[in-house]
Amino acid sequence: MSPSATPEPLSFTIARSGHPASDEQRAAILANPGFGKSFTDHMVLATWTRGQGWHDAKVTAYGPLQLLPSAAVLHYAQEIFEGLKAYRHADGSVWSFRPEANAERMQRSARRLALPSLSVEDFVESLRALVTVDQDWVPAAGTGETSLYLRPFMFASEAFLGVRPADVVTYSVIASPAGAYFSGGLKPVTLWISSSYARAGAGGTGAAKCGGNYASSLAGQLEGIEHGCDQAVFLDSATQEYIEELGGMNLFFVTRDGRLVTPELTGTILEGVTRSSILELGKELGLDPEERRIPIEEWKEGARSGDIVEIFACGTAAVITPVGELRWEGGSVDHRRGGPEIGEVTRTVRERLLDIQYGRAEDVHGWLTRLV
Ligand code: COI
Repeated sequence: MSPSATPEPLSFTIARSGHPASDEQRAAILANPGFGKSFTDHMVLATWTRGQGWHDAKVTAYGPLQLLPSAAVLHYAQEIFEGLKAYRHADGSVWSFRPEANAERMQRSARRLALPSLSVEDFVESLRALVTVDQDWVPAAGTGETSLYLRPFMFASEAFLGVRPADVVTYSVIASPAGAYFSGGLKPVTLWISSSYARAGAGGTGAAKCGGNYASSLAGQLEGIEHGCDQAVFLDSATQEYIEELGGMNLFFVTRDGRLVTPELTGTILEGVTRSSILELGKELGLDPEERRIPIEEWKEGARSGDIVEIFACGTAAVITPVGELRWEGGSVDHRRGGPEIGEVTRTVRERLLDIQYGRAEDVHGWLTRLV
């Protein structure tokens, strides 16, 4: 097949693991999954080569990848990933939330990182193939907020040290039973304004979901931890005046007069699927959504004056997490003024979103896709 012809949809062959976890081992993991620690019995693999396009798609036993030390990804970080979850509904069926949005974002990330495009259909089918084989790993309905976290990723596997887009690329999906992202559960996080480090710059990869963005957020996060904070909040690198994101989560502010404000997408912020869903849900809850540049001074002043009444961070992994104190070199502010740990709007938006994801509320937006 020539690479320019419309490719046939991928068909995933299945080779079951010869050493799956026992029922007892799986039950012990599902009883207390944490986040990102344990993995299911299988994974998806597919290969892309410049001549052949995507091929050799399979579900196979979860295990080490064979990669030569010269694989380009290890040197030049030509890598992208996605994150989404599989939710068990009360009738036993398993669903994912807006997987097409993740597929389309992966296509945009691929373009930015000069990786090949995977079709939306192949992306969704890869999730379905893996979750079908590993369906016993999807936590039962009614067990709090547990789900099966799905991690599709794509990387330059060609053994070559020249700096150019790889001619051999691997796509994979792994799955991990997940509970709360933060070990403290649903407690407000304290944030540190990172002024020494930026996460992304104009024309860079900030809007792409690539590993490099997360690597570049770590020094800021460490600085935050050294100052007693949980996470860092990054400002725009050009002026250091405007709020961007946390590195792994987008931010929202609720104002006293009912506005739901979030930093606009400038090309340096990740286009969160949870972020865009919250903008929709906010409208339905009678809030006035606003996407715009938000000066960090507005946060400080709004928290002091009481104009900002709630702040939360959001992402697939952490869902919606309340934000508490903000600290910086020589100062701090806390908008909560002794109020509840989780505000009314934060709680309502969070419950609304989770109710849709777990099938407890009608999916009027058509956001759910059945996997099993
Ligand atoms: C997600 O929320 O899925 C993320 O990508 C954040 C992090 C776990 C990398």
